[in-house]
Amino acid sequence: MALRTILEFPDPRLRTRAAPVTRFDAALSTLIEDMFQTMYAAPGIGLAATQVDVHLRVIVIDVSKDHKEPVTLINPEIIAREGEASTEEGCLSVPGIFDEVKRAAKVRVRSHDRKGKAHERDYEDILAICIQHEMDHLDGKLFVDYLSDLKRERIRKKLEKERRERATRPAANSTGARRAY
Ligand code: NI
Repeated sequence: MALRTILEFPDPRLRTRAAPVTRFDAALSTLIEDMFQTMYAAPGIGLAATQVDVHLRVIVIDVSKDHKEPVTLINPEIIAREGEASTEEGCLSVPGIFDEVKRAAKVRVRSHDRKGKAHERDYEDILAICIQHEMDHLDGKLFVDYLSDLKRERIRKKLEKERRERATRPAANSTGARRAY
């Protein structure tokens, strides 16, 4: 297993539309293991392959506190949505920024597992939100796209300033109790 580098906004590679997975092989399993390791180390509760510069439709999620509920979704498709929820979201590709986004409260998702077997399952609460957030990544979309142009521009400038400062002194990589994906 290996830690992968997480791309950060406004890196244009985050705007890539990911391709469906067609080969369910050892390389795919390695990617998934690396993604879990990278997500847990960040720390985060979700990660899309897009964020580690691999443009395949793969997402990993674990919203548990003790890394005990790993969820892997390959080629995910939302086949039903219900309700509406507004959640303060964070993203590993937009470090330290949190803002409210409205999404469906419940989703039914069809996806493949790492062996290529198809599954259908209902998700709600933070899992439903996280899945929608990660699926946006696979289409080159970020949660800051839901905010105003002014806000997004302010975030871009803040992150650029922080990256410049990080070059001269070590990062304090803490987001407190809030969780990013
Ligand atoms: Ni994200």
